Amino acid sequence: MRVLGIETSCDETAAAVVEDGRRVVSNIVASQFDLHAAFGGVVPEIASRAHAERIVPIVRSALRQAGLAWKDIGAVAVGHRPGLIGSLLVGVAAAKALAWSLDKPIVGVDHLHAHLYAAAMGDGTDNRATIDARYPALGLVVSGGHTAIYLCQSPTSLDRLGSTIDDAIGEAFDKVATILGLGHPGGPAIDALAAEEGANDTAHDLPISRLDRDSLDFSFSGLKTSVLYAVRGHPRPKAEGGGFARDHTALSHEQKRDVAASFQRAACRAITLKLERAFEQCAGRGVRSLLVGGGVSANRRLRSEIAELGHKCGVEVCVPPMPLCVDNAAMIAALGARQLETRGADDLTLTAVPTTGA
Ligand code: KG4
Ligand code: ZN
Repeated sequence: MRVLGIETSCDETAAAVVEDGRRVVSNIVASQFDLHAAFGGVVPEIASRAHAERIVPIVRSALRQAGLAWKDIGAVAVGHRPGLIGSLLVGVAAAKALAWSLDKPIVGVDHLHAHLYAAAMGDGTDNRATIDARYPALGLVVSGGHTAIYLCQSPTSLDRLGSTIDDAIGEAFDKVATILGLGHPGGPAIDALAAEEGANDTAHDLPISRLDRDSLDFSFSGLKTSVLYAVRGHPRPKAEGGGFARDHTALSHEQKRDVAASFQRAACRAITLKLERAFEQCAGRGVRSLLVGGGVSANRRLRSEIAELGHKCGVEVCVPPMPLCVDNAAMIAALGARQLETRGADDLTLTAVPTTGA
C-alpha cells in the first residue's frame, strides 16, 4: 500500500509517499528557516501561517515527485502529536480533508515514534524481516524540541523511559550558539567550531546532569547557565548596576572554540551517560539495536560516542540518512502504514495534541 504522509508539527511543512511501510517514493520538506532566523527561534504564529500557505503545494509536489495520482494513494498518515498546536492543526486539517475527499483511511502518528521508526527502516533497501529483527530496541530522540529514551518492543509498541525535564538538547546547542554569537540554528555551528584543530574540550569544567541515581531523564538548563557565566562572567549584584560584565565580543576565536568544545563534551556525555544506564536497566530485555533520530544526531561527536557505546554493548546502532533524520513526512507515512496493520485506522475525530503519547 502507498501511504501519503503529512508533517507540520514545528517549522517544516512536509509531505511524502511511502510504499509498504519502508520504501520512500517521494519526500518533500519546505523549511521555514528564513522566516524565523531573525527571531533566534521558531515563532509559533508565523509557523502555523506558513504551514497554511504551503501545505497544498507541498502535498501536490510529493505526489508529482512520486509520479502518482490521487487514486494511487491507499491511506493518509499525519503527525498529530507532539508539537506546536497551531502547526499541528494545519497538518491534521489537511489530512482529514484529503482522507475524507479520497474516501481513504486516516491514521494519526506520534512524531517521536516516527523518528525512531525512521532509524529502524535502514537505508531504504532493507526488507521487512531485517527491519523487524532490530526490535526490541532502545530508542533515542535528540532534536530541537525533544530529548527522550524509549524501550521499543516493536515499531508501534513503545515505552518512554525518560525525557528532558527542561530544555531539549538541540535547544541547548542553539542557546549556547546564541550566547557565543554564532547565529541560528546553532547546532551545526558549535559542531564545526568544536571540531577545529586545537579545540580544548576540557578548558571549562561544565556540569553533566545525572539527576537521581536511576533516572533516565535529562536536564540541560544548568549546563546552559554555566556556559552563560563562562562567557559573560557572573551577574553583578544589583547595587553595582546588575547585568553582566561582558559578552561574547570579549572572547577571542580560540576562547569561543574552547567553550563550544567543552559544552559539546558535556552535552554528549549527558546523553551517553543515560544511554549506559538504560542499557543496564534493560539487561535481559533482549535489546538488539539502538535507534537514533532527530537533528542533533548529525553531531559528529555524539555520533562517534554513540557508535562506541553500541559497539561496547554489542548492539547495532541505526541512524537514518540525514533527510530521514531531521523532520520529514516519510517517517510519518512509514510508521502510519505499520500502525494501520497493527491497530487499524483512526477516524475523522482525530485531533492535534501538543504532548507525546508515551
Ligand atoms: O530534528 P530537527 O531537525 O528539528 C526538531 O524537531 O527540532 O532538529 C533541529 C535541531 C536544532 O536544534 C539544531 O541546532 C540541531 O538539531 N542540530 C545539531 C546539528 N545539526 C542540527 N546539533 C548539534 N550538532 C549538529 N551537527
Ligand atoms: Zn522532530
